[in-house]
Order: sequence, then structure tokens, then C-alpha cells
Amino acid sequence: MDIVNSLPNPAECSELIYDLSGHKFEPEVACDIWIRILDHKWFLSEKLGRDVGTKVAVLDYIENTGAVDEGLISSENAGLLKELGAKMVDQSIWETISESQPPKQIVGKRIVLPLTEVELAQKHGVTPPKTILFFGPPGTGKTHFVKAIAGVLGWWYIEISPSDLMVDGTHAIGANLKRLMEKARNLDEAVIFIDEFEEIAGSRDNASRLDKSITNELLKQVPLLKQYAKRLLLVCATNYIRELDAALLRPGRFDCIIPVGGLDDQGRRTIFEYYLSKTNNPDVDVDRILAMIPLFTPADIEYLFQRVTQVAFERELAQKEDYRLTTELFLQVMPKVRPSLNVDLINDFKEECREFTRY
Ligand SMILES: Nc1ncnc2c1ncn2[C@@H]1O[C@H](COP(=O)(O)OP(=O)(O)O)[C@@H](O)[C@H]1O
Ligand SMILES: [Mg+2]
Repeated sequence: MDIVNSLPNPAECSELIYDLSGHKFEPEVACDIWIRILDHKWFLSEKLGRDVGTKVAVLDYIENTGAVDEGLISSENAGLLKELGAKMVDQSIWETISESQPPKQIVGKRIVLPLTEVELAQKHGVTPPKTILFFGPPGTGKTHFVKAIAGVLGWWYIEISPSDLMVDGTHAIGANLKRLMEKARNLDEAVIFIDEFEEIAGSRDNASRLDKSITNELLKQVPLLKQYAKRLLLVCATNYIRELDAALLRPGRFDCIIPVGGLDDQGRRTIFEYYLSKTNNPDVDVDRILAMIPLFTPADIEYLFQRVTQVAFERELAQKEDYRLTTELFLQVMPKVRPSLNVDLINDFKEECREFTRY
């Protein structure tokens, strides 16, 4: 049956939605909902600039239109997605990262392709990773990469901050983590991201307030996650990999441990030009500015543009005539933005790369 072009009968509509989402609708309302879902699929495809699958459209429709609250459906997953703050991420993030920016190539080959070229991966015995750890200095784009992965896969993005797990006190982190992972295992096609991972998984020496039970809980949850057939990724990120409990870094825990470090020239240029393209009619010597910011992270470049565009905005407001962004303005603002990276940090990071990288 061509499910997009011919309208199924009420029972079939109900069944289709159930198969795609696990949500049960009464046949009397199912056809109406089905039409709205197809509409939503079109809307979402326009918004994201790609053809989204019917399954994604169904789940996003249910998540974002309040259909659950209207009492139209009875589903655990819709409530769960809402509770966990699941979001759909724009696919364009992946495309705006330059191919040369580490670790785009590694992430593409090792994480994205085995999950999108499933049969070929199976044929060659390649197992897609389920647990990933990103490490690297602050502002280098760890969070950005996790969002980009969710976006390019078209999966749900669920961000868990350590404070979410600590709400009931540090003694309850292990229990909260367990509850979270038990819930997450009911989902399909989701990236679960724990940021600032050292906050909950620090070693006993470095974080005395934490208990070994958190590491133990993680060590229990990881194999459970791997046994599961559902398409789930647990991604953790840390600025301080040395602070993590060594037990977590041994082989068999994280499938991939991937460094996210400084930018190369092309990576810096791509990000610079991306932000520049959003400014007013700029007249800027890009090569000259780029040569001055070799130690800037993506976050520093973003901040530089925040400062520069604010000044441009204020000047036009004061002068009441069109104000173009110029090289001179960058040169004026630049001394106020300090690079996050320095030689010591880069050397430490190189050492960490040698010691911990695995994919
Ligand atoms: N190509 C890119 N790679 C990484 N970050 C980028 C890129 N383009 C823009 N950014 C921005 O730079 C910042 C990087 O910070 P973030 O991902 O939070 O770093 P981290 O998680 O490593 O501290 C984000 O605001 C992100 O949106
Ligand atoms: Mg981050």
C-alpha cells in the first residue's frame, strides 16, 4: 500500500500509527490524525531541508503538538520523550562542519556510516558503536558534534546534565542514572548525551564527594545498553579525561574514545565564514584575521562575532546609517577576546590523545 498517497481505512490508520510509534489511537480519530501526520511530515521536511521519514514525523507530531495532552493517544514513549526533553536537531549542523575539522572524518566513518549503511556494516562484521566518549579542551565543539550526530542520523537528542542526576543529592546519582537508563532503553533512535561527565564519573581521588557506586552503576548499564537491539547511542563528554575513574576507560566500556581538539586552518575558516555570512554586508580581510587567531576554539570565534556584531549594531543605532563590518572593527575588538587554547594546554591535550584515544 502506498501509505502516503492513498488514505487507509480507520482501522488501518490506527494500525499504521501504532506500528510506527507504539501509540494507540481509536479508529474514529486515527484517520484524522494520520492526515495531520502526513501534513506534519511535509512541514518538517521543509523545515529541516531534507526528507524526514514517516516514523520521525509521527513521533515529532506526537511530541510537539500536544496530542498526548489532548488525550488522543495512550503511549509511554511520547510522555517519555517529553519527560527527557528529547529534541529533533537540524541536519544542517553536520554539513556546516568542515570535512577537515577533527574529528568529523572519524565520527563519519566510525559512528554515522555503520548506523546508516547497516547491511554493508553487517556484511563486513562492523559493529556500530553504542557508547562514545568525547574529550578535549572547553569550547572545542564536543556538544556541537553530539548534536550534529543526532541531526545527521535523524535521531532524538536527549541532553542530560550532571545537575539533572544530582537533583536528589549526590548520594542518589547512581539511582537516578539507573532510572534514566532504564527509561532510555524503551526508546529507539535516540542519542543520550551526558555532558560534563567528570562531574558524575570523577575518580575517588579527585572527587571525594562522589561514591564508587556511580562508576559501578555505569559499568552495569553499559553492557545492558549493548545487549539491546534498539538504536541508541550513549555519548558522554568531558573537558578533563584524566579526572575520570580509570575503570571507565578500560577496553569494553566505551566503544570509542574520541578527542575533539583545536581547529586546523580550514576548520577555522569554515566557522569564521559561517558567522561572517550572518552579519551585515561585511567588508573584511578574512585571511588577515584568520592569521591572527590560530589558538581560537569554535567557541572563541563565536564569542568574537558576538562582540563585533554588538558594536556594529550600536554604531548603526548611534550614527543612523548603514554600518558594515570591517577589518578595522575586528582589529579593535580582537584584544578583548582571549584565545582559550595555549601551548601548555595543547601539549597536555596531545599527551591525552596518545594515552586515551580509541576508535
Ligand atoms: N564547526 C563547528 N564546530 C564546533 N563548534 C562550532 C562549529 N561552528 C560553530 N560552533 C559553535 O562553537 C561552540 C562550541 O562549543 P561547544 O560545542 O559547546 O564546545 P564544548 O562542548 O567542547 O565545550 C558552540 O557554540 C557551537 O555552536
Ligand atoms: Mg559542551
